[in-house]
Amino acid sequence: DGKYMVTLIEGDGIGPEISQSVKDIFTAADVPIKWESVDVTPRLIDGKTSIPQEAIDSVTRNSVALKGPLATPIGKGHVSLNLTLRRTFNLFANVRPCKSIAGYKTPYNNVDLSLIRENTEGEYSGIEHVVVDGVVQSIKLITRAASERVLRFAFQYAQDIGKPKVRAVHKATIMKMSDGLFLSIAREVSKDFPNVEFDAELLDNACLKIVSDPTPYNDKVLVMPNLYGDILSDMCAGLIGGLGLTPSGNIGDECSIFEAVHGSAPDIAGKGLANPTALLLSSIMMLQHMGVTQHADRIREAIFKTLAEGRTITGDLGGKAKTAEYAEAVIKNL
Ligand code: IPM
Ligand code: MN
Repeated sequence: DGKYMVTLIEGDGIGPEISQSVKDIFTAADVPIKWESVDVTPRLIDGKTSIPQEAIDSVTRNSVALKGPLATPIGKGHVSLNLTLRRTFNLFANVRPCKSIAGYKTPYNNVDLSLIRENTEGEYSGIEHVVVDGVVQSIKLITRAASERVLRFAFQYAQDIGKPKVRAVHKATIMKMSDGLFLSIAREVSKDFPNVEFDAELLDNACLKIVSDPTPYNDKVLVMPNLYGDILSDMCAGLIGGLGLTPSGNIGDECSIFEAVHGSAPDIAGKGLANPTALLLSSIMMLQHMGVTQHADRIREAIFKTLAEGRTITGDLGGKAKTAEYAEAVIKNL
């Protein structure tokens, strides 16, 4: 019937509520997609926990998924489900745009940053062990294959979005070998993109400069190893109003999962108070990725209009609206 199938992973805590907003707004905007909801809660099969096969099959079949927050246990000895999904589907590039929202006032109102985070290795490789009592090693794994893949993606992305400048963010002065490898591959890859300018900056310096004034970074695509991207993207989100307002996309060759970066907010779960904007903006990134750009533009405008009006915004943004009232207001603004 001319509709795209998209896997929906509603997630934990506020996940179902914010997913409902996306579904309602998509229905109202006549977006030509059909949701296939799946549960990714790991099951014990033959003594091993793993993501249900139906969920894996769904993402593989549809090649695009939208995902709400999944609760991550701290130090419980098992890998975060978020990371498992990134690994299972080989989602090697994490795209994290960070753009000021018109009408929502922050110290800088012209932020337009583009971050690309390596998404499969680095400190996230999960290789840790006790050497002797009181001495622990966590391995930061940097490979040529994963680095080259994400760097090529970043250069291509820079070209595609019309920001033909790539800056690698690193700490090769200290991690001479691992970040040194990442940086040297960045230089190599840059030769294949003569129309894209390339330079590099130390992570600490980049943090200092970005919080002092992010605007000189608006014309660049920043690309970096996994953990740096995790931290820097939260820092940048702080400049535009927090994780309630920033989308992300985990991109692979075979499939992609778009997700809000924020957590499952168990303290407000089930109360209808959550802000669905980050998941909505992630769903818009998803539509753009699928080439459904007209609907994406229309919904984005309606969201920005609603936020700018400021009458029907959620508590995290200083308003009093419930999740559903905000979604209603976005629908009226379509
Ligand atoms: C993110 C999150 C995840 C990460 C957590 C939930 C595992 O903070 O997407 O940035 O650390 O990558
Ligand atoms: Mn994070």
